[in-house]
Parts: sequence; structure tokens; C-alpha cells
Amino acid sequence: MLGMEGNQEFSTNIQRNCVVRGHHFDALDERVRHLLLSAHKALATAYAPYSKFFVGAALLLENGKVILGSNQENAAYPSGLCAERTALFAAGVQENGVSVLAMAIVVARSDGAELAPAFPCGSCLQVLMEVERRQKTPVKVYLKGTGQQVYEADGVSVFLPFGFDPSAFS
Ligand code: THU
Repeated sequence: MLGMEGNQEFSTNIQRNCVVRGHHFDALDERVRHLLLSAHKALATAYAPYSKFFVGAALLLENGKVILGSNQENAAYPSGLCAERTALFAAGVQENGVSVLAMAIVVARSDGAELAPAFPCGSCLQVLMEVERRQKTPVKVYLKGTGQQVYEADGVSVFLPFGFDPSAFS
């Protein structure tokens, strides 16, 4: 393979980090339930006339504040932004320098169809990775669809074990 010495294979075990736990909503602690309910409320602020797929995000910050986000679409499709990034960027402005402890994401559709929890897209994971790197602590992630099942992960590396970071160019 290009850039490899001789026949040496590159392999690494990423499995140990990739644990997503499933919980019933009622089994979660009060703080997490509250965060998920905040993300659910944020659904009402989504602007998704094109996809009709609504995403609400809520961040719990170290100072106890909750910052909301939702997906914001545009007729020029790539100009829109995901819920996760609207929340993460809003937190960077409104609560600059305050660590993010957890992020809750809830998805729904305007026709009321049943949806499983949705994993954040690669661009949102990339932004979340940099948030973790800047604050030097992982961000817990909670994902919920229309049912009572909630997925929990201990940080972005669960979803993005090999992300791009500045060590690549410095
Ligand atoms: N979306 C999010 O808000 N977060 C994601 O991680 C993936 C997708 C939004 C973008 C767009 O408004 C709609 O969902 C359909 O892609």
C-alpha cells in the first residue's frame, strides 16, 4: 500500500471506544431527561421546509446553562446548517470559554412518522471534536428519536475515532 513499509499492514483496534449504550428515557437521570426535553422543545424552532426532518439540540454547559440549536435550512441547500452546529457555535458566542458537558439531539418529522435516534453527521462530529479538544474534556452525547429509546455515548470518539485535527498540519 502507498506509503507503507514492505508488506506491513496497518491495523488498529477502535472497537473499545465505540460503545453506544441504549436506555429507556425513564431510566435516565433527571438532568439528562431535562436536557432531552430541552432538545425536544428546540424542534419547534427548526426551519426545515425542504427535508421536513426536524432536529433539536440542547447543550448542557459547565455553568449549568442550556444552549439550544435546531436545523436551519435554505433554498440554496448547502447554505443551511445542522442543529448540532447551530448549538455549538451559539454556545461559543453566548458562553465563550465555558465547557460543554453534554449534548442531546432529538429528531422528528412533520408527518409524525416514527424515527429512530439519528447519529450526528460527519461535519457536526468534526466540530464537536474540536470543541472537545479545546476544552480538553469529552462531551456526552444523548440521541433520541420519536420513541422512548435513548442512545448514550461518552464522547465524540465513539462516532469519530479518527478525526482530522491540527496535528495533521503542524
Ligand atoms: N441535520 C441535522 O440537523 N443534524 C445532523 O447531524 C444531520 C442532518 C439536518 C440538516 C437538514 O436540515 C436535515 O437534517 C436533513 O438532512
